[in-house]
Amino acid sequence: MDRRVFLQSAGASLLLAGGNLAWAQSAPRPLPIIPLTDLTGGIEDRISLALNPATHDFGNGVVSETLGINHNYLGPVIRVKQGQTLPFDVANNIGETSTIHWHGLHIPGDVDGGPHQEIEHGSVWSPDVPIVQHASMNWFHSHMHGKTAQQTYKGLAGVLLVEDDASLAADLPNTYGVDDFTLVLQDKTFDDSGKMAYELSAAVFEDGFEGDTLTVNGAIAPVAQPVPTGLVRLRILNACNARFLRLSMETGPITVIASDGGFLSSPVEANNILMSPGERYEVLVDMTAFETNALKVNLNGNGGGFLSDLFGGNRSVTALSLARTDMRGFDGALPTQLANLVPPNSADATVTRDFQLNMNVGADLAALALAWENVCGDAGAMAINGQPMKMDRIDEKVRKGDTEIWRISVDDQLHPFHIHGCSFRILSQNGGPPPSYAAGWKDMVHVDDGWSEVLVRFDYEATDHTPYMYHCHILEHEDCGMMGQFTVT
Ligand code: C2O
Ligand code: CU
Ligand code: CU
Repeated sequence: MDRRVFLQSAGASLLLAGGNLAWAQSAPRPLPIIPLTDLTGGIEDRISLALNPATHDFGNGVVSETLGINHNYLGPVIRVKQGQTLPFDVANNIGETSTIHWHGLHIPGDVDGGPHQEIEHGSVWSPDVPIVQHASMNWFHSHMHGKTAQQTYKGLAGVLLVEDDASLAADLPNTYGVDDFTLVLQDKTFDDSGKMAYELSAAVFEDGFEGDTLTVNGAIAPVAQPVPTGLVRLRILNACNARFLRLSMETGPITVIASDGGFLSSPVEANNILMSPGERYEVLVDMTAFETNALKVNLNGNGGGFLSDLFGGNRSVTALSLARTDMRGFDGALPTQLANLVPPNSADATVTRDFQLNMNVGADLAALALAWENVCGDAGAMAINGQPMKMDRIDEKVRKGDTEIWRISVDDQLHPFHIHGCSFRILSQNGGPPPSYAAGWKDMVHVDDGWSEVLVRFDYEATDHTPYMYHCHILEHEDCGMMGQFTVT
């Protein structure tokens, strides 16, 4: 029996044994609107971000121990404008070393916030982060090597929205919390007492940590939100450690307007979209056509397949339900043109690099789970091109300004591959063309059977003191060594 099929059937019987309880949903809670720090009008002071231990009720009436950034769980939504420089003061009070990486930003290695830019407990990291890129939804999260999974799961993550003149003037909903919503999707596990839990085992290392409960902005789904008649914009981040999510709308196709690195050339309608951990998509919902609508999430985005379908594992749950009111909001029409995107031209590339993601390179995952007390550490159970991540080894050297093709394949399972310091275009994904909603600017690509290929150019410097990372964004895989380092000079 193929290992993947076996794992799926094991999962299916677990679901049966549990009576599918995890999939049952309660009455909706109000959608938490993450506090907005809007700096598009100008920046007067340094921007303080404090990483703190905290407690948070996800909505089940039980207080869980969490980490937060200026808040009790997760960080603020920070909205900035192209051309600004962001003077951050990131203070670490969590009792252990951490880092904050700006995922999606086109910035030099020395402000990227990767594993080399450790912020010890009690100290402050003060990078000046230049915003050069155009409008896009980005995020920030812990990148502490060996502990990224655990620290991010506990709450060290936030959203960074970049606007530009065109996006602010565009005929699109952009009133935060009225017709423009930021949604952070995560899967959580709660223990018998109702507290958020995270525990590593060999199986969790293998598949990444997957919780059985969907949360939206730190509240157990479903959540509900009244909205104006007209178009409503949802800016969605999959901030799960390991879970691929398949998103759809209750009433029909889902309309996608932007991917990780910015707007698509025009809106794309799809039956559903598959979002890996780390990916962002923006969608528009037309609330003139229906009085209510809902964003549905299939937690078995990774595939699920026949057995999972058979045992009811493939059901979608409601993430967010929307109810129309006569409140005023954006009343324009669905745009037909969004951005000028020329198709990627692989003939521009002068260098091609191959990356093979390796699941197991010999280490005993069960022993690791025990020995490392819930962190993978520098154990190197997984690898890229046979080499587990090493902080003092540079794996690739890229020349600044060169256009390259990066080809990625894997020996087993579906993985989300991410590259720092850039946006790229997907030439092929799993041996075929990418879905049209993934054909624009991206910094994440899915890797399963067949090669995934991206066309990428690096315009900023990263030296061997502060190299960029490329890695699997299943955070347990990343922590376990499925990561490499490169310089751009
Ligand atoms: Cu979102 Cu290197 O990470
Ligand atoms: Cu990143
Ligand atoms: Cu992986």
